Amino acid sequence: MLYNDLRGWMEKVDEFGELKRVEGIDWKYEMGAVTEVYARNPPYSAILFDKIKDYPAGHRVLVGVHHQSLRRQCLTTHLPLNYDRMQFIQAWRKRLNNPQFISPRVVNSGPVMENVYEGKDIDLFSLPVPHWHEEDGGRYIGTAHIVITRDMDEGWVNLGCYRVMVHDKDTLALYISPGKQGRIIRQKYFDQGRPCPVAISFGDDPLLLTAAANSLPWGKSEYDYAGGIRGEAIDVILGKHTGLPVPALFRNYHRGRMLARSAETRRALRRMDRLLCERRAYRTDCEGKAHDAPRQPDPDRRALFPSSGRLRR
Ligand SMILES: Cc1cc2nc3c(=O)[nH]c(=O)nc-3n(C[C@H](O)[C@H](O)[C@H](O)COP(=O)(O)O)c2cc1C
Repeated sequence: MLYNDLRGWMEKVDEFGELKRVEGIDWKYEMGAVTEVYARNPPYSAILFDKIKDYPAGHRVLVGVHHQSLRRQCLTTHLPLNYDRMQFIQAWRKRLNNPQFISPRVVNSGPVMENVYEGKDIDLFSLPVPHWHEEDGGRYIGTAHIVITRDMDEGWVNLGCYRVMVHDKDTLALYISPGKQGRIIRQKYFDQGRPCPVAISFGDDPLLLTAAANSLPWGKSEYDYAGGIRGEAIDVILGKHTGLPVPALFRNYHRGRMLARSAETRRALRRMDRLLCERRAYRTDCEGKAHDAPRQPDPDRRALFPSSGRLRR
């Protein structure tokens, strides 16, 4: 195992010169523009933004974790840092032919419990969430995170990465495309007229993002897959309200319930969907879906999940 958590990962990346620090920029558009510049120019550094406009020093944002750097990919997936492209491919070939799975280890506490905000104290705008592009529907907090849900019938835990936008001080919008396991899991709750428990972890081990963005067979948890890659179980705590396992070592996690749509949130979702559809050039199809009636129309059910309970960071 080459590192244990995101801070350990950043230290290593800093050591081999692929971590740039950028200070004093605006969360609105500027952060997105700087990110684009670094993404297009070797060595495609990861960037750690600090002293962000309107926010105290230390409220940092890390971007470009997975930009095209072989060394960072080796680090993230716990392979020797001096591997060349062919060695990397061969190592992954072996892994894919013989995947290892190690279940997470439940612990009682961890850094994730250091700061806990609940109820009226929740303020998503206290975090320097970037407004990446001029035409974005809002500020996207979820771009390299993990969304944790549990299948209600079989009990296994799914991790996925689905975009998340800040809607207001305690509400997030989450878009999961049709066919994704996270959406199938969510739909089972909606079909019963129930909200779907969810936890979202921001700023965690880049390996978990790698695992979450992978499509594993139904019933296989990405937690186990990530544990197998690093050769050691991922430590998790069980959320008090949702019972969902959340990475214990990471510092920013939100829990809540996914609810189906209502008129009050439809406009925000339309803006969000317009953005993601335009960027992917399937606007009509996607907009059509955005306006689909929910399967069981109910004004109180929303496609947003208010963090009406605990917000930890
Ligand atoms: C940075 C990033 C952003 C993504 N955004 C979305 C998204 O907004 N909605 C979505 O459905 N999938 C998105 N994906 C793809 C899913 O994470 C991926 O298909 C994953 O395998 C889904 O997991 P699941 O099949 O377990 O639900 C994204 C992937 C990455 C790496």
